[in-house]
Order: sequence, then C-alpha cells, then structure tokens
Amino acid sequence: MDIKEIIQAPVKTELAAFKNYYSGVLSSDIPILNEALVYVGDTVGKMMRPILVLLAAKSCGNVCDATFSAAAALELLHTASLLHDDVIDESDMRRGQPSLNAVYSNRVAILTGDYLFSSSLNCIAKTKNIEIIETLSDVGRALSSGEMMQLQFQKSGGFCEENYLEMIRRKTAALFACCGKLGALSAGVDSAVAAGYERFGELLGICFQIRDDIFDYFDSNIGKPTGSDMREGKITLPALYVLRTLQEPAVARLNTKLQGGDTLHEEEISELIEFSKNFGGIDYALERIDTFRSEALSALPPGIPDDCRVALESYLDYSINRKK
Ligand code: IPE
Ligand code: IPE
Ligand code: MG
Ligand code: MG
Repeated sequence: MDIKEIIQAPVKTELAAFKNYYSGVLSSDIPILNEALVYVGDTVGKMMRPILVLLAAKSCGNVCDATFSAAAALELLHTASLLHDDVIDESDMRRGQPSLNAVYSNRVAILTGDYLFSSSLNCIAKTKNIEIIETLSDVGRALSSGEMMQLQFQKSGGFCEENYLEMIRRKTAALFACCGKLGALSAGVDSAVAAGYERFGELLGICFQIRDDIFDYFDSNIGKPTGSDMREGKITLPALYVLRTLQEPAVARLNTKLQGGDTLHEEEISELIEFSKNFGGIDYALERIDTFRSEALSALPPGIPDDCRVALESYLDYSINRKK
C-alpha cells in the first residue's frame, strides 16, 4: 500500500461519503457564483483537513453526522482562506490550475471566499454542539491574525524564529489543531481526550507549514508558484537561521535591510536563498520539523486502535515528506 492508502484505509468509506456531501455544498442559484463554485469543486486539493477530522473521530470510535459537518466546515474554511490568500499574495496558480482570482478577478475570488466562510458556519451549526461551534469560530480569528502578523513583519521587519513559529501556529497549525479537536468531540469524547488530538494537529500543522516553506527554496512542481516568498517579503525558517547564525558582512547587510522593513532585490534574494541552502538553513528547518514530529506523536492519547494509530502516524509523515 502506498502512504495515502495507509492513511485513508480506516476511513475509506467515510471519506467517499464525505466527498459526495462536500460537493453538494458547493452550489448557488446565482449563475456567476455557481460557476465559481463549480471551479472550486473541480479543483479540490489534498483534503488533508477532512481526513484528519475523520481519522480523529474514528480513533475515538464514532464517525457520525457531526463528524461530516465538522469536516465540511473545516475544508470550506480552509478553501475560503486560500481564495483570499491568493488575492493577498497576488498568486496566479493554485492546486495545479490557475487560481480563481486569475481566472475571474479579485472581486469574484473575495466574494466566493466570503460565501464559503458563511457556508462553513452553516455546516458547523448543524452539529448543534456549542463546544464545536465555539472552537470553529475561534479558528477563523487565529487564521486571519496569523496572516496579519505576516503582513506586519513584511512591512516593519522584527521577525525572528519565535515570531515565525507563532505566526505559522496561527495561520496554519490552528486549523489542523481544530481538525483533531472537532473530530474527537464529534465522536463524543470528553475535552481532555480531545485536547490530545488538538495538540497532535497543532504540532503536525507546524511541521506542515515549515515543509511548505522549504518548497519555496527549490524549483518544484507543487501546483503553486515557488520562489515567491522572499519576493513578497516573507522570510521563513531556513533564511531566519542563516540570518541569525552566519557571520558574514553580506548577511549583516541583508539583516539590516530586512529589519528595517525594506524588500530585497532579485540578486539579494538569490544570495539569501543560496546562503540558506549552503550554510545549514534547510537542514536546521528539517531538524526542527523532526523535534515537532516527536512531540506530536507523544501528544496522541493512549488506546487508539492499531489501524488508526498507523494512519495518524503516516499522516504526520506525509505532511513532512510530501512532494506537493
Ligand atoms: C495550503 O494547504 C496552505 C498552507 C497551509 C500551506 P494544502 O497544501 O493542504 O492545500 P490543498 O487543500 O491541498 O490545496
Ligand atoms: C498559507 O499561507 C495560507 C493560509 C494559511 C491562509 P501561504 O501564503 O504561505 O501559503 P501558500 O503557499 O499560498 O499555499
Ligand atoms: Mg499564499
Ligand atoms: Mg499567504
């Protein structure tokens, strides 16, 4: 079995039912909106968040209607945030296809994103579980405050590893944490058990985003542009490491510029990418991933059925070793 099959094995039928349910949500009676929603439905991603919701629920022994509602709400929230993110980042590719903003316009992408956010609330309300609803309503705030932190660093410098980790915890890991927690809560376990899945999701999400940021240092075929982070003023972990550790006049110069909120020229970007690759930046980021991976594994509660434990561990490894 390949790793994706191992991950999906315990929830194979549930995932097929979920995909069916999810595509049913993506429709509207307004033709232009419906067209955009069909485009979104035709360009689905890896579905990592719903898979985590299903796996957490299954690990707790019960996939039910509330699990499907939570999984749909989280995938909708995630997809809405990507529609808006591509407007913010002026990015023209997503999921291997032209992004919605590129095919239509920023206006259509923003309004479709808003529609998906509201659809997400609509799904979560169906659970009628106040703890689940409250958790989802908080995660939207984490996401946008993380994206705002990033904007702030782009404008005024002030980034360091600690700030970077807090930023990715909000913009990416909080959503994975929510998947673990809501999957478990939907199965009816108590908050203390759900907290273990929440922490697992959070640490996994940190690994996921550090890996995503490493992609940007290489020419790869991941279905969205690479090499664009520094151009947008985003300084990620490999570069932060060399900026902190490398005693070179050239690095000191880049540091001064960045901390003053200046953007780098193309040659400076290439220089910083090469420093990051040649002086241990990538290796350092991979080491940090490894530490978070171990912490994630120890956060999982005891008593998980074997097939689910193997699937969750493989899911974590897939987040780290994925090729896109
Ligand atoms: C992309 O997430 C956004 C990040 C947090 C880096 P995914 O890589 O899971 O996106 P899709 O849903 O598969 O397109
Ligand atoms: C991740 O941000 C997207 C969200 C968490 C909303 P990025 O801008 O780093 O992700 P990609 O590279 O566009 O997927
Ligand atoms: Mg982006
Ligand atoms: Mg972004």
